[in-house]
Amino acid sequence: MKLTPLIDRRRIQKRVEELGSEINADYTGCQNLVLVCILRGSFVFFADLIRQISLSFSCEFIQLESYGCGVDSSGSVKIISSSLDNIENSDILVIEDIVDTGLSITILYDYLLSFSPRSLKCCSLLDKPSRRQQPVSINYVGFSIENQFVVGYGLDYDQFYRNLPDICVLDLSKP
Ligand code: IMP
Repeated sequence: MKLTPLIDRRRIQKRVEELGSEINADYTGCQNLVLVCILRGSFVFFADLIRQISLSFSCEFIQLESYGCGVDSSGSVKIISSSLDNIENSDILVIEDIVDTGLSITILYDYLLSFSPRSLKCCSLLDKPSRRQQPVSINYVGFSIENQFVVGYGLDYDQFYRNLPDICVLDLSKP
């Protein structure tokens, strides 16, 4: 396995600050903002991003399972657990690590819409548009990347590498 740095910590930090500023501006005056952390991959991004947001908001957590162990989507996405409670009429902003095929966010949107929120948007640190199977709209994107499997900054391969401070490409074909 070979790890090649793709986006270093300084670029990530700068982009997280920019995203925070955009969100602060767009949600100014919002009374019922709920930020939803999608576990497990987005926990590092979520922790950094929320500290760039100076508005009043609550945090919720949903755990999805879309990958077993490997680099390809299993094609089936399940909601494993959810802490959502009384979010009717809330402005929901989903915080994702990466949108790949779009299957997870599509299932998540259906689930969240069943709570009748006032608005529903998504902020994803990474986007792999070339892999899309479901058309989805992502309102805030940190970085658009090629069709490469990446780890670090919360993203894993088989639950490992989440602690890497930089986002790296993982090449499994290399020793
Ligand atoms: P999607 O349902 O195919 O859009 O996949 C979304 C989920 O797949 C993400 O939240 C990640 O957990 C995982 N995923 C997709 N691409 C990668 C990657 O390059 N590295 C690590 N996880 C990934």
